[in-house]
Amino acid sequence: MKRPTHTLSDPERFKIGLFGANCSSGLTMTTVPERWIPDGDNTLALAQVADAGGIDFLLPIARWRGYGGRTDPNGYSFETLAWATGILAVTRRITVFATVHVSLVHPVLAAKQMATADQFGHGRLGLNIVCGWNPEEFAMFGGNQRPESERYAQGREWITVVRQLWRSQDLVDFEGKYYTIRGARCTPRLYQGTEPILMNAGRSAEGRQFAVEVVDCLFTSVRNPDDAKALVADIRGRARALGREVDVYTTGYVVCRPTRREAEEYLHYYAVENRDEEAMAQRGRLRNEDAESLAAWAAGHHGWPLIGTPDDVAQGLAQIASTGIAGVALGLVNYLNELPYFCQEVLPRLQRLGIR
Ligand SMILES: Cc1cc2nc3c(=O)[nH]c(=O)nc-3n(C[C@H](O)[C@H](O)[C@H](O)COP(=O)(O)O)c2cc1C
Repeated sequence: MKRPTHTLSDPERFKIGLFGANCSSGLTMTTVPERWIPDGDNTLALAQVADAGGIDFLLPIARWRGYGGRTDPNGYSFETLAWATGILAVTRRITVFATVHVSLVHPVLAAKQMATADQFGHGRLGLNIVCGWNPEEFAMFGGNQRPESERYAQGREWITVVRQLWRSQDLVDFEGKYYTIRGARCTPRLYQGTEPILMNAGRSAEGRQFAVEVVDCLFTSVRNPDDAKALVADIRGRARALGREVDVYTTGYVVCRPTRREAEEYLHYYAVENRDEEAMAQRGRLRNEDAESLAAWAAGHHGWPLIGTPDDVAQGLAQIASTGIAGVALGLVNYLNELPYFCQEVLPRLQRLGIR
């Protein structure tokens, strides 16, 4: 199938996206009053600022419940396929991902929803596949949880069915371990027949192997240049051995201010003085995380910290790019308030540094 030309298709460009703007508190666990609370209006406004400002992609988090505590981070979140469709309709160039839990959305439904969204966006939809789950979220759907070892096996069947529906002119039959499908079809077709860019969010060895064999990019968190270089070499090397090109994307969080001191003070204000300790404790119980890991989560979901002046943030992004990572999905405390300054000050510096 033809591959689309989109904001993520230039291998020389270091791609910049926003992560988690469909969820309350985004990537933070903070009680500050300006924390991000999405609604229809600020979401569409943010999408348009990002689209006009030169941001390459928007990537949502698929969540069904929040972390509790005082502010219930991520407790209010837009369903990502509906969110992407609305955003695609009001933007012109940006790639907009949906994040789909394979085990919660039947592939026949997902294929059609994605084709619908893709029509509204003239081929700019991307798909982030999530094969894992949070047990308490899965319980909301009847808890038909499969053993961990089977997650990616189901993911492979799921994407096989979705691709057959997108590609086939005929009715699709499929007989697998997880899906039995008779006489299925997907109309509408994808826009101009081009397939969305596919990403897999995961950390485990199985998740990496799934990315190497099945999708276009692995989305994972890494915060150290040596680890990032080794990861990129491993993923690209194994993919190339199969004749495939697979990129690695990661996450980061930004506090960008005219002076480094202002940026550091703001980080301390939202992520230390005003962090939501109860939500952190709740996450700690669910994930067995230690205090250091929880603090990194409260500041920005274990992402790469990009804190300082526009020069500092641009240098930090250039450092990520120098590891071979293809792009980064960023969090901001209040996406809409903070994005214009980032676009104005940081993006031109990235051009001058030669990574865009
Ligand atoms: C960068 C990144 C983003 C993720 N985004 C989501 C998400 O939006 N929703 C979700 O339920 N899980 C998300 N996950 C969790 C993974 O999909 C997966 O459940 C978890 O990493 C365990 O799978 P693994 O063993 O392959 O790492 C994300 C993980 C990573 C590393």
